[in-house]
Amino acid sequence: MLELLLTFVVFFNPFYQGNEILLPKPEKFGKVSIEETLSKRRTIRNYSKEPIQLKELGQLLWAAQGITSDEGFRTAPSAGALYPLEIFIVTGNVEELEDGIYRYNPSKHSIIKISSGDKRKQLADAALGQEQIQTAAVNIIITAVLKRTTWKYGERGKRYVHIEVGHAAQNVMLQAEALGIGVCPVGAFQDEKVKKLLSLNEEEPLYILTVGKK
Ligand SMILES: Cc1cc2nc3c(=O)[nH]c(=O)nc-3n(C[C@H](O)[C@H](O)[C@H](O)COP(=O)(O)O)c2cc1C
Repeated sequence: MLELLLTFVVFFNPFYQGNEILLPKPEKFGKVSIEETLSKRRTIRNYSKEPIQLKELGQLLWAAQGITSDEGFRTAPSAGALYPLEIFIVTGNVEELEDGIYRYNPSKHSIIKISSGDKRKQLADAALGQEQIQTAAVNIIITAVLKRTTWKYGERGKRYVHIEVGHAAQNVMLQAEALGIGVCPVGAFQDEKVKKLLSLNEEEPLYILTVGKK
């Protein structure tokens, strides 16, 4: 029955265009001050079974890499505005979204499906079995194409990319706090296993953010 309902939502929803799903427009105004989110932000590893809404997922992705100007500048700063980051998600409990692996497309504020099915256990296995990855409603994986930055800045470009990952991750953590959503940043994982699971080519996985309702 649930599968039938999901099929209906997928095929008759105007926001679905093949493998691409347009995300709801991000909010530019919120109810919580930046000072409050800074003072309350905490790493959260225990999540309830309540799903994340598609709008909330979209808001978090926008916080990570959303486009905020006509010139193409984004929510997070980028050395030389070269934007080396690519965001992937591994979902398991997002309302109105089939479980799977998706890539965020900032230019259309959409997600593009890479593969179907709940892959949270495989992702957890690639991260020393950390349980919060499996219980998270969604895992956000921040990856980077290093050469987008190193062609201009050489070796130092690598440092810039790593700094940028921190900018994007902190944006997500603060946005999540403002929405009452819990996040755990995860740096302990095996790169090759994550690359294989996400079918990455030139992207290097650098950070995982596990996300779920508190
Ligand atoms: C670069 C980095 C890597 C981290 N990796 C992990 C991790 O693999 N697993 C985990 O449970 N927490 C991880 N954390 C979360 C820290 O344990 C957490 O930030 C720290 O205990 C401070 O708590 P707070 O974030 O609530 O202030 C990581 C944090 C950072 C900044």
